[in-house]
Amino acid sequence: MNENTIIVIFGASGDLTHRKLIPALYSLYVKKRMPDKWRIVGVSRSTFSDDEFRQNMESGVKEFANDKYNAGLWQKFAANVTYRPLDLGDVADMQRLDAYLRQFEENNGPCNRLYYLAIAPRLYEPAIANLGAANLVDESEGWRHVVIEKPFGHDLQSAQALNTAVHQVLRERQIYRIDHYLGKETVQNLLVFRFANSLFEPVWNRNYIDHVQITATETVDVGHRAGYYDGVGVVRDMVQNHMLQLLSLVAMEPPASFEADALRNEKAKVFSAIRPIQPHEVAKHTVRAQYRGYSEAEGVAPNSETATYTALRFYIDNWRWQGVPFYLRSGKALADKSTEITIFFKRPPHVMFPMPPGSKLAANYLSICVQPDEGIHFSFQAKVPDTAADMRPVDMSFHYDDTFGPTSIPEAYERLLFDALKGDASLFTRGDAIELAWQLVDPILAGWETEAAPPLALYEPGSWGPAEADLLINHDGFTWVQGCGNHDM
Ligand SMILES: NC(=O)c1ccc[n+]([C@@H]2O[C@H](COP(=O)([O-])OP(=O)(O)OC[C@H]3O[C@@H](n4cnc5c(N)ncnc54)[C@H](OP(=O)(O)O)[C@@H]3O)[C@@H](O)[C@H]2O)c1
Repeated sequence: MNENTIIVIFGASGDLTHRKLIPALYSLYVKKRMPDKWRIVGVSRSTFSDDEFRQNMESGVKEFANDKYNAGLWQKFAANVTYRPLDLGDVADMQRLDAYLRQFEENNGPCNRLYYLAIAPRLYEPAIANLGAANLVDESEGWRHVVIEKPFGHDLQSAQALNTAVHQVLRERQIYRIDHYLGKETVQNLLVFRFANSLFEPVWNRNYIDHVQITATETVDVGHRAGYYDGVGVVRDMVQNHMLQLLSLVAMEPPASFEADALRNEKAKVFSAIRPIQPHEVAKHTVRAQYRGYSEAEGVAPNSETATYTALRFYIDNWRWQGVPFYLRSGKALADKSTEITIFFKRPPHVMFPMPPGSKLAANYLSICVQPDEGIHFSFQAKVPDTAADMRPVDMSFHYDDTFGPTSIPEAYERLLFDALKGDASLFTRGDAIELAWQLVDPILAGWETEAAPPLALYEPGSWGPAEADLLINHDGFTWVQGCGNHDM
């Protein structure tokens, strides 16, 4: 990149900057992917000297930058990193920031500016209003992009209000709403897998696909995040953003190009075609559960009904997917940490081989392991040697580690920051898609507040979740996968 760029991180004294943003920017520097002339300016209210800030960031890079720390390289990187204390709620402070950035621009020529809002969601609106009030978003001397962290709203109404406020200051093309799942290599590979291979696309539809499972499980419990999590719960924390994004990539039509809007139009079409689960239907299509012990965690309200686990059944009302159930499941304090998409194909219409009475041939399935063991598995039937025609499912697998090496996969934030610097918004969520996703989860959350709600099930920490989730899928004749590429049917 040959354009000068200043990256301003709002929330520079916070956790995200320390653990993710500076390590990711440092990795980009090591890979020579930073612009020719660049500067990182960290801002928050805390008072640090430039050197104190750099020391703080150095410890983050040592711990989190994928083993890339090198003292010499760090010194060169750190020479471009400075810190300014400011209150983003104060327009005069923002004007002082502008004057500070202009000093760099006067010495180095006009610069683009990337403003990264690594701040609490309640501060997005004042931060953007004051970027506008202090004239920091004027693009006459270079582009001005604003990266907004998740969550974007806590329901449809608040997301719409935030979009309206943001659009008063910025044009949509200047806004980069992060969903860090989209920065994951395996998620991007889903597009390559589907649209750069001719083998699967012809069978990627209701004629051949039986059902789809999307799982995102965590072993950790709510821990010290109870203050944030209680009242938010799994649907807002995982389903509205990450899981619906994964679903849209599985279900979308082939975009005409790899341009941001071509891709984002197709995703928005999927969201529009998903049949909303109405409040009166939540007991039929959803499970809500809490792990035992959650309500005793520090920061959790007594008698909290916040769901730490959910299982959902969605349908997509279009030609490609009519009648194919999409099951989504996510939870905390479970037996395994895994994010996986599994596509189950229909069984053969007729089996000529002798089978034990009452048994069924296992379905072929394709498992896309998003994390932690990134890869793809395909399960198909093979003849057991030295038998007449006994069959067993066997696995054809691709692991990123084996093929590309153990350090091949960059941190999601590295890719997303690189794209935001290049002006490529493909992997960022557009305002309409955010609102469409809220339109899908709001009725579920509303239904959970009524008498039609399924009872709040309890599950044991370290288990695979509540029995009710098994019942939801067993009812349709299916069972959940248990860990990437590991399914017995
Ligand atoms: N941490 C993660 O792993 C993670 C993951 C996904 C998403 N996110 C999202 O990223 C954002 C930041 O998260 P975080 O964990 O880094 O939060 P955090 O540790 O609480 O940091 C918040 C930052 O905001 C600054 N700040 C607060 N009020 C300010 C003001 N008036 N003016 C200027 N700066 C102000 C704070 O610094 P001062 O107190 O010094 O002003 C601090 O640097 C949130 O939206 C979160 O949802 C975080």
